[in-house]
Amino acid sequence: MTDLAATEDKHLGLICPICQGALSQADKTMVCPANHRFDRARQGYLNLLAVQHKNSRDPGDNLAMVEARRRFLDGGHYAPLAERLAQLAASYAPNQWLDIGCGEGYYTAQIAQRLPGAQGYALDISREAVKRACKRAPEIEWVVASMARLPLADASCQLLASVFSPLDWQEAKRVLATQGGLLRMGPTRGHLMELRQKLYDEVRDYDDEKHLELIPEGMQLGHSETLSFTLKVETEQARADLLAMTPHGWRASAERRAAVIAEPLEVTVSIRYDWIVRT
Ligand SMILES: C[S@@+](CC[C@H](N)C(=O)[O-])C[C@H]1O[C@@H](n2cnc3c(N)ncnc32)[C@H](O)[C@@H]1O
Ligand SMILES: [Zn+2]
Repeated sequence: MTDLAATEDKHLGLICPICQGALSQADKTMVCPANHRFDRARQGYLNLLAVQHKNSRDPGDNLAMVEARRRFLDGGHYAPLAERLAQLAASYAPNQWLDIGCGEGYYTAQIAQRLPGAQGYALDISREAVKRACKRAPEIEWVVASMARLPLADASCQLLASVFSPLDWQEAKRVLATQGGLLRMGPTRGHLMELRQKLYDEVRDYDDEKHLELIPEGMQLGHSETLSFTLKVETEQARADLLAMTPHGWRASAERRAAVIAEPLEVTVSIRYDWIVRT
């Protein structure tokens, strides 16, 4: 295969977020038949977020959240979660897959490692996140885009990943091939319980099956499992990062947050994985 053919293969399936025409590569730009053009950033990622689809100047997670998450995840605290996610993804053996709301790419890169022969795509609406993510795995096509307009053709993916992220279910369904599925990873009601007890007088109960009610017609739950363990968060930096990467970072009072950061923390990590199949 020539280099040119390899480049073309890489873009099979990317579509224009404005008119849904097929995108092809022209120099450093991606262009559709209607001549909508999108630049590839110096770092290698593509920006497919059309100005008219942005609700704010800098949508998605901001730099501080992205940096906190990157430091915490690179500290290995959630390594067992990523390991199981990647194992599950590999077991479904997709040809083409997409991580929706990839953040700074910690989980995405581990999925890619387990799927060396597959074409991987990953997107997030936060440019700061994608800018960092794309350094982790250059073989993935990293894209700044909205999950409300996935830049991939109908029925083009055998696997979608959604990790701690919101999801547009109808869009997800559109890009899934029949018998393909969505691998969702999210918290159970016990996740970070001890932390929440320190932060709030009353810990809000969390319905960890709520997302199952959102599964649209034409998709069904194929498999669920949970993974739980106790995590010791030993350093102040790691405790501050854990707070900053979750909604607790801004919901709880400053005093309570400071108290959490000051003392050693032992906390339950409890996650569920759901595999939701396109029928
Ligand atoms: C809690 S983070 C999870 C990131 C990553 N999957 C992880 O677990 O490390 C949620 C991510 O969803 C992204 N996000 C929020 N709304 C989005 C949208 N409409 N389209 C694409 N990404 C979005 C945020 O920018 C953020 O990076
Ligand atoms: Zn177009």
